[in-house]
Amino acid sequence: MRLTGGRMTKRLMRHIVLIGMMGAGKTAIGTDIARRLQVPFTDSDAEIEAAAAMTITEIFARDGETFFRAREAQVLARLLTGTPGVISTGGGAWMQAGNRTLIAANGMSVWLNCDPELLWNRVRQRTTRPLLQTADPKGTLLRLLAERSPVYAEAELEFVSHEGDSIERSAARLIAQLRAADPGLFKETS
Ligand code: S3P
Repeated sequence: MRLTGGRMTKRLMRHIVLIGMMGAGKTAIGTDIARRLQVPFTDSDAEIEAAAAMTITEIFARDGETFFRAREAQVLARLLTGTPGVISTGGGAWMQAGNRTLIAANGMSVWLNCDPELLWNRVRQRTTRPLLQTADPKGTLLRLLAERSPVYAEAELEFVSHEGDSIERSAARLIAQLRAADPGLFKETS
């Protein structure tokens, strides 16, 4: 996939893989950076839902989390073999060692790190996250964040979301950070 800026044509050399908690903005920011970079955007949750013709909630309810994690790993492996683009992953995907290995081999992992209160404000009204259908959803979210953060921190790049930043502002800042972190991420072709 190519992107043209003036007379310059650049090619994305490996996937940009967004990881992090539910509500961190992976899909929203991912969609925007893919549009700016003119590369494909895929969302592992959406791909799982399309393949199963069921929602994530229905998959968890009918087949359980273990089944979902197996589908998630299969979908990720497929997406990672495609044309380099932006891939948004479900919040638990990075917790599987096999997924981390595959992502590292095929892409640049980016942890979208976000303030816990901001995460909570974004997910509290939604009923689409089966892991948060508990008696104390905020407590569950904070526990998952505490458990997962040290593993998320293994990502190649950490992007800290700022409260009040628009999607567009975050996307522009992330692209600048990506370029600085890996000057070889884009290859110029004339
Ligand atoms: C999950 C996050 C969800 C989805 C599933 C499990 C998790 O994706 O994959 O509900 O384990 O954190 P988002 O991070 O896109 O909400």
